[in-house]
Amino acid sequence: MNMYGSKVVGWGAALPDEVVTNKDFEARLETNDAWITERTGIKERRMGGTTSSLAVEAAQKALANAGLQPSDIGLLVLSTTTPEQTVPATSGTIQAQLGLTCGAFDINAACAGFVYGLVVGHSMIATGTERVLVIGSDTLSKITDQQDRSTAVLFADGAGAVILERTAPEDNAVLGWDLGVDGSLVPILYCDHGGYLKMEGREVFKRAVLAMVSSAKTAMERAGVTADDIALVVPHQANIRIIEAANNRLGLSMEKTAIVLDTTGNTSSGSVPLALSAAVEKGMVNPGEYILFSGFGAGMTWASAVVRWGK
Ligand code: ACO
Repeated sequence: MNMYGSKVVGWGAALPDEVVTNKDFEARLETNDAWITERTGIKERRMGGTTSSLAVEAAQKALANAGLQPSDIGLLVLSTTTPEQTVPATSGTIQAQLGLTCGAFDINAACAGFVYGLVVGHSMIATGTERVLVIGSDTLSKITDQQDRSTAVLFADGAGAVILERTAPEDNAVLGWDLGVDGSLVPILYCDHGGYLKMEGREVFKRAVLAMVSSAKTAMERAGVTADDIALVVPHQANIRIIEAANNRLGLSMEKTAIVLDTTGNTSSGSVPLALSAAVEKGMVNPGEYILFSGFGAGMTWASAVVRWGK
């Protein structure tokens, strides 16, 4: 058994102010609201801010939500696929702006990155760190060709954060997880330095469903729970049809699934914690109930985790 367990004690989210609707794309691209809505479920998204500014806002909300001070945080893990510079890591900028005094590093597992970060945070707590701030923040609009209808309508900006806190091993709430990558699939979704995201949409779609289903099953098995035990599903917010297809295969209902993609688009690392915050605000999960987190992304990466909710 680990020396310690961990539990979520705070959460927060941040979105830029500028709303870009499907209608806005109609005006400048060969696309329309009906196509975007039917194929993706997205109606509008937010664009603007920077990876660090959105991260700082989300983290400040999480600190306030947990009733904690910056000095209470023992480690910052930033998941991002849109760092502000090649060197140094964006987590350092965020650490300074938040007034943290702890260590900080970036991880990049694309849209699966937040769940990777959650598991890394849990692991650091298991070996003694008292509290870990895990942030997912991305500004995909900056690496998206706004003239390419196949990607422009999908990708947007946003951030979310959670704070994990040390508990006795018997109170541990991060119960089971699965992390993976298939590096042979780099060519189906990538972005070169200084370039834009390139994607084989149909292939990513198929692989995403397969990855989410097998990863979620593995995480549930390791946590010792079944689909019937899950009160809330928090999937990566890429496309409503991917979520529906995965849920069908897993025996999970859409009613207990957190959905924000209709108003946020795909915010990569921001997506899962944004959806979590919205679901918690709506009262979709109660203390003691199980949440299934599940993400997939460029790499292709995937990550799932089962967490017992509670404050
Ligand atoms: N408006 C109108 N038509 C469009 C648009 C658009 N915005 N985009 C593509 N089309 C066209 C295509 O050109 C194609 O036309 P053609 O048949 O004449 O060639 C037609 O619509 C159908 O295209 P498909 O790619 O087959 O459409 P599909 O139903 O697969 O939907 C989509 C496309 C939405 C991209 C879907 O494949 C998808 O969501 N894939 C997964 C993408 C994803 O999740 N990526 C993120 C991964 S996470 C990360 O790490 C960033």
